[in-house]
Amino acid sequence: MFSLSITSICYLFGSVTFIFGLKMMGNPKTARNGNLIGAAGMTIAILATILLHENAVTPVVYGLILGAIALGFIVGWMTAKKVKMTAMPELVSIFNGMGGACAALISLMEFNKIISLGEVAPTRTLIAIMAGLIIGSISFSGSVIAFLKLNGTMAKPVRLPSYNLLNNLILLGVLSFGGYMIFSGGTSLLSYLLFASALFYGIMFVFPIGGADMPVVISLLNSFTGLAAAFGGFLYHNKVMLTGGILVGSAGTLLTIMMCKAMNRSLSNVIFGAFGEGTAAAAAGGTTGGTIKEASVSDVAVLMNYSKKVVIVPGYGLAVAQAQHIIHELELLLEERGVEVKYAIHPVAGRMPGHMNVLLAEANVDYGKLVEMDEINPEFATTDVVLIVGANDVVNPAAKNNPASPIYGMPILEAENAKNIIINKRSMNAGYAGIDNELFYNPKSSMFFGDAKKALTELVAELKTME
Ligand code: TAP
Repeated sequence: MFSLSITSICYLFGSVTFIFGLKMMGNPKTARNGNLIGAAGMTIAILATILLHENAVTPVVYGLILGAIALGFIVGWMTAKKVKMTAMPELVSIFNGMGGACAALISLMEFNKIISLGEVAPTRTLIAIMAGLIIGSISFSGSVIAFLKLNGTMAKPVRLPSYNLLNNLILLGVLSFGGYMIFSGGTSLLSYLLFASALFYGIMFVFPIGGADMPVVISLLNSFTGLAAAFGGFLYHNKVMLTGGILVGSAGTLLTIMMCKAMNRSLSNVIFGAFGEGTAAAAAGGTTGGTIKEASVSDVAVLMNYSKKVVIVPGYGLAVAQAQHIIHELELLLEERGVEVKYAIHPVAGRMPGHMNVLLAEANVDYGKLVEMDEINPEFATTDVVLIVGANDVVNPAAKNNPASPIYGMPILEAENAKNIIINKRSMNAGYAGIDNELFYNPKSSMFFGDAKKALTELVAELKTME
């Protein structure tokens, strides 16, 4: 009884840390500590579950549990340490998949325990088991496919004829199978068949979705994992697991909605559409054409050196080039010369939520200099130079001017209002949406071609030669 009440206190403590940790992760200043607080709460919840367990546990079982934890700890730690910033979405995807697999295996194990003991489980227990099994399996196999798409192993989306109809039929089949298991009580063999069919649906669900839409899919699968874990918590009457699952499920759902909103796309368009695959999107958006102006490194240096206000627009290319440190150096150099420098942050710049914030924080850029889209947009009219580094879609005026464009309606950074526009990228290639950008042909625009890190390094060197 005594140990039970300590367990409850530990669980309550864990749940509170999850909520506070999550809240703190909403702000770049507190995000790191929020992560640590959540992790500390999770450690306490895990230790309480293992050490204060009400049933007797043999040393062999303890050994197995600790061995598994040590293995997971080492693999997780080493992978997270080594991962590149641009590969973060795929890491999140595979970690999320592990959560889904855990939830599915818990359900599978509990169901087979009931069968082997010859018990008749109440309907609510069977609902929790089947829901955890189906959702966890879909999340696991879907996340593995998302991981393979993001790391380039599965470059092209696989689209069978009438794939949307086919997928809906498979889903209906899996759900009906789960329903049958609940009403009939099921058998061990059928539980494995249900597991396999839910895994199959997860694969088919993610197969047709374009690689560029994976961040949204990962966030959605993340919410599935949370839901599956919450069913596990319900099954075990484990409140911390239930709270954690609900928090992950709701945070994942909110994030999915926010990403879709910032891209001005519906979730069904992401799941059932074929966006960002180049040709179709480019055709709808049209090719702007026209003449472009090129600027040399000394042109850009002179322009910036004699400006009063510079706004930097970072995008996906900044992350690819790992140019965050050199851009910070440029910012400091300009400020030394009395130039006011700010960063304009678009909510979906890059390939994951908060991508630019995390990237710039890594280079110790002051958080106060990162200005959100709605706040910076009115400032472009008084900006001497906007320096766009590896960003494309988030500054494309077609989002406002061209109803035929696939990005029409997406809120953008209104860089076109600045007095001078410098665009750094390697070529005239399109960004994520696969469409041309009319900003590049604006008479105020100059293309400053080159890899962001290399081009900015040269720019800083050039600026240093000027007093
Ligand atoms: P993009 O529109 O994807 O454009 C990035 C540009 O960076 C490319 O045009 C590319 O041109 C350039 N680039 C690539 N490597 C570079 C390098 N080494 N040096 C310099 N430039 C380089 O990026 P964005 O403006 O950040 O927009 C993000 C897009 O992703 C949006 O369409 C958004 O909807 C989508 N998206 C975002 C998220 C989240 S949550 N952030 C999730 C899903 C989708 P070159 O090849 O010519 O260099």
